[in-house]
Amino acid sequence: MSFTADAEVVVITGTRKGIGRSLAEHFLKRGATVIGCSREPTDLRAGGYEHHCVDVSNEQQVRQLFAAVWKQHGRLDILINNAGIAAMNHALLTPGSTVERIFATNFLGTFLCCREGARLMQRNRHGRIINIGTVAVPMRLEGELVYAASKSAVITLTQILARELAPFNITVNAVGVTPVETDLIRSVPKEKIDRIIEGLAIKRLGRPEDVANVIDFFVRRESDYVTGQTVYLGGM
Ligand SMILES: NC(=O)c1ccc[n+]([C@@H]2O[C@H](COP(=O)([O-])OP(=O)(O)OC[C@H]3O[C@@H](n4cnc5c(N)ncnc54)[C@H](OP(=O)(O)O)[C@@H]3O)[C@@H](O)[C@H]2O)c1
Repeated sequence: MSFTADAEVVVITGTRKGIGRSLAEHFLKRGATVIGCSREPTDLRAGGYEHHCVDVSNEQQVRQLFAAVWKQHGRLDILINNAGIAAMNHALLTPGSTVERIFATNFLGTFLCCREGARLMQRNRHGRIINIGTVAVPMRLEGELVYAASKSAVITLTQILARELAPFNITVNAVGVTPVETDLIRSVPKEKIDRIIEGLAIKRLGRPEDVANVIDFFVRRESDYVTGQTVYLGGM
């Protein structure tokens, strides 16, 4: 099957704002058809972009999203599991409901989209899945136990799914993101962000373009021998 930049069909979760929105704009500039989603509606209006109000932790809604992609486009080339939430708290002060909420979006949401997306990709025996991780995992950041554990699970999912999907010519990789100025880290104290940046080889905040750059590498046709990998940004 052909895999040309101007014919790409890309699903990106969490495109209402932040990194996901930048990624949607990035792929639109590449000439791709982008199907984005978030729980709330978006104000992003562009040719080639369609938005679905979907909670990625809701199995029924995720099934409907991918069914609509198949009906409308008959293919799925790239899936980027970007939707994510965070909470900062000491373990002793963290309610079980927070654990459930964060794992529901970050892990279950990623799992459901991978499963439904890969079922479509499998039909064309081609696909690229990119998950979003965080430096909070290798840095073992205190106060981020639940968030980091949910993203650890995403990395394990990436590694095992890469093996399960390799026979279908579907690669599964992840980007380990450093702090990027979005609403997600708005409430994190500046001293904490400074300490995280101090722990990186390259001492600056990340940018959405840094994330897009790694994704561009993963989705290249020539990257079909790269799977199960996590590329951490900033020299983590
Ligand atoms: N910013 C950072 O410093 C940083 C660092 C490392 C990793 N990351 C990761 O990067 C990804 C994007 O984060 P961000 O910084 O761009 O966050 P953000 O600005 O808070 O944006 C999160 C996006 O995800 C959507 N979303 C949240 N829960 C959802 C759900 N259950 N179903 C569907 N959509 C949902 C939000 O839209 P709605 O509210 O409308 O649903 C929003 O569009 C996340 O996976 C995050 O863990 C970010």
